[in-house]
Amino acid sequence: MNKYKILFVCLGNICRSPAAEAVMRSMVESRGLSDAVEVDSAGIIGYHEGEQADPRMRSAAFQRGYRLTSISRPVRPDDFHSFDLIVGMDNSNLQSLRRMAPPDAHARLCLLTDFCADSGHTEVPDPYYGGLSGFVLVLDILEEACGRLLATLQDEKSLPTR
Ligand code: 4NP
Repeated sequence: MNKYKILFVCLGNICRSPAAEAVMRSMVESRGLSDAVEVDSAGIIGYHEGEQADPRMRSAAFQRGYRLTSISRPVRPDDFHSFDLIVGMDNSNLQSLRRMAPPDAHARLCLLTDFCADSGHTEVPDPYYGGLSGFVLVLDILEEACGRLLATLQDEKSLPTR
């Protein structure tokens, strides 16, 4: 069976999208869907290419049991062909992705907060220039949205339901 491939994208790929990747991977593993879903993350800019996730994000995520292991890389043209779903963290990311997408892109584009029906968040706010509470808020939003995204994919029957 082909895996369903999800790419999470933020600006630098050192705070929000590596955390989204870790949260989603944890949910995929705990629901026994590792054979069905693959996750990765990337940044709009390549400024932090080769770096680990920001230590503040790694620390906040570790408090909730997530290990952030990804290394920053920019979005590549091939991502639009090799991923099924590319998920931006904010409207600016989504606009950039739309500009970068080739006309024959395979990937669907969306915002992660498209899956935040309850809390009403419309973007995952950039925590980079703020304090600890921004990183905690990011994790709250990621946990809500990733859970709903996975449930939506299972409802669409593109994934096995457990
Ligand atoms: P991220 O956060 O997009 O969530 O990874 C940022 C990381 C780096 C920068 C901005 C946002 N930066 O300007 O370098």
